Amino acid sequence: MSPSWERIRRCGAMVKCNTASVLRSETDNHALGLSFIADIATGTASGNVPSESPMVSLRRSAGLKGGNARAESFIAWVRPKNCETGGVHSMAKNPAVIVYPQAVPVKAMACGIADLKSQDANEICFCGDDGGFVIKKNDKYPSLPHIEWFCSSLARSVGVPQLDFSVVEHTDGNFWFGSSWKTGQVKDWWTLAANGSLDFGHLSDDISRVYALDLFINNDDRHLNNYFVVNDAGRFRLYSFDYSRSWLNKPFPLVGLITDPATNTVRVKEYLKVNFGNYFNVAAMTDILDNITAVQPQRVSDIISAHPNNWLTQAERDAILNWWNSGAVLTRVNEIKAGIQNGSLL
Ligand SMILES: Nc1ncnc2c1ncn2[C@@H]1O[C@H](COP(=O)(O)OP(=O)(O)OP(=O)(O)O)[C@@H](O)[C@H]1O
Ligand SMILES: [Mg+2]
Repeated sequence: MSPSWERIRRCGAMVKCNTASVLRSETDNHALGLSFIADIATGTASGNVPSESPMVSLRRSAGLKGGNARAESFIAWVRPKNCETGGVHSMAKNPAVIVYPQAVPVKAMACGIADLKSQDANEICFCGDDGGFVIKKNDKYPSLPHIEWFCSSLARSVGVPQLDFSVVEHTDGNFWFGSSWKTGQVKDWWTLAANGSLDFGHLSDDISRVYALDLFINNDDRHLNNYFVVNDAGRFRLYSFDYSRSWLNKPFPLVGLITDPATNTVRVKEYLKVNFGNYFNVAAMTDILDNITAVQPQRVSDIISAHPNNWLTQAERDAILNWWNSGAVLTRVNEIKAGIQNGSLL
């Protein structure tokens, strides 16, 4: 799977790409090239976009409807209406870059308390055409909005399927992290898998990807419902979300790896092994880890700059960037890879 295309297919992202990659996808007879174009066409584009729509621009560049077949880049805020995050794989030859910062926060029209049976999230905001968002504020931990934003952005950048998210301008006048409401969560997906109504094999690659990310960010709270599973017209898909108990919520710089059997992450891993066997896709895990090491400090800085300044102190910002610049990321990834190789993390 091409990591660059993996990035394109994430939903609701600021995407910069070279139409040459799309053109090549089509001429290489990858049928899904057109479906990517169609996805963009169903989205809304605003902000820094060319005078013509991305759809027209792409088609013209690809020589599909007038114009010359030439490469040009475009940048657009793409929010596909029916965001498809599964199944579109191995496409682009040229890198496509998700460009942070986010153009505009979404503005809430109304916010209210909701019983989400959760520890850290109990509010939902309705944001008009942008839909609903589950809000994470800084009342539980000062850096919670940053943690959610950073880990969600990292997930999206490295190819972990991720629920869409945004900065939300709350009716309280503050900017908070919002997880874009997704309907149809299958809250007993593991029961369905155990009784054969759901093919666990369709989820295990993505579970492996999420687990690789969790190991890196020290997420010890991946309980079963922190894998967000939806039934998408008969096909089950899995997304990552909820990083409340990871990253800066843990001692930073990150130390050690999650092996404590009392943690949700390890308990769930063991539960899944007992019920579904050795489910890990080591290649998929390695892919994610390699993608993490490829994340440049500049990208980390961009991700941080894309959220409100007051979500981090200057000291925290400096600590993150120093750590990412120090080579510690590679050391940590190599520790995780060693644990995968010797089986201690599986
Ligand atoms: N984007 C979303 N779309 C639909 N439902 C959501 C979304 N985000 C959160 N939820 C629901 O709200 C619940 C709580 O959200 P979340 O897991 O982020 O909060 P939390 O307090 O960290 O939870 P916990 O610590 O209990 O895992 C989720 O288990 C899920 O059922
Ligand atoms: Mg949760």
